[in-house]
Amino acid sequence: PGPDAHVGYGKIILLGEHSVVYGHHAIAAPIGLSVRAEATRTTSSAEPVIADWSVDGSLREPIREDISHRVAALITGRLGVPAAGLRVEVFSDLPRASGLGASAAFAVAVIRAVASRFDLRLSDAEVSNLAFECERIVHGTPSGIDNTVATFGRPVLFRKTDAAGGHEIHDIVTPYPIPVAIGLSGVHALTSQTVSLVRTAWQKNPARYDSIFAQIDALVLAGVDALRHGDIAELGELMNINQGLLNALQVSSPEIEQLVAIARRAGALGAKLTGGGGGGAMIAIAEPGGTEPIIAAMRRAGFATYLTELR
Ligand code: MEV
Repeated sequence: PGPDAHVGYGKIILLGEHSVVYGHHAIAAPIGLSVRAEATRTTSSAEPVIADWSVDGSLREPIREDISHRVAALITGRLGVPAAGLRVEVFSDLPRASGLGASAAFAVAVIRAVASRFDLRLSDAEVSNLAFECERIVHGTPSGIDNTVATFGRPVLFRKTDAAGGHEIHDIVTPYPIPVAIGLSGVHALTSQTVSLVRTAWQKNPARYDSIFAQIDALVLAGVDALRHGDIAELGELMNINQGLLNALQVSSPEIEQLVAIARRAGALGAKLTGGGGGGAMIAIAEPGGTEPIIAAMRRAGFATYLTELR
């Protein structure tokens, strides 16, 4: 079955965040958490309204109003539909500012809901491209990986080919579902900020940072093979090295390092931050059946957790 008509999917980046912004490969996959939207037309001539509801209020903060207005204006403008009197209700169980792609999932859900209200048939590529433009409002310089997974809802190997949203994607194949434990650091971090920190460092010393990005790229490509063979031990090692390099980029945080240590001590084969970092979320993999002790240990230490599967 294809993606749901009103939904944008949350995601994890298994390997390759940040270097993906510089044209290198990354692997990302959807998680069970998502955003759903419903659009209605009222007779009012007021500005469009995006009302934002949370399935679990404890996990999120409202989206900034100026951003949601700009996103609504962009979407209605691009789709050529009247903005006045439009009301979009958004329901989300994805925590915000946690590296799980909530802003891209939000954009995809709103685009799909508005298109469906006006009986417009958009291809997934059209949805993703418009969500990329929304992400530019929120992020500045996104690679396009978040809107891609938010739209297509399946694991991909992604590479950006130009700054205007050009990219190539390949499906990722796994022989069996690989369990992934997610730990939330509880520290909200904006991807736009960590992306710009990395950019400043890269601008000062491009050769030094390009070589780190190239090393991460090699880990990602090795990860594709590891996934194809279901070699979780190898995949875990690649994730651990990737975490070391993300730390070198200075996008880890004390809470993320604590989660990584807890996960590895509880038997994780690999553990790393996922998404923008600076806080946000950590992912850990284990053999099938091996994630329960990791989840339990993170909970005991007071962290919110979520279990998903790469398939
Ligand atoms: C955010 O999920 C991943 C980053 O690589 C930014 C991007 O690719 O747009 C940090």
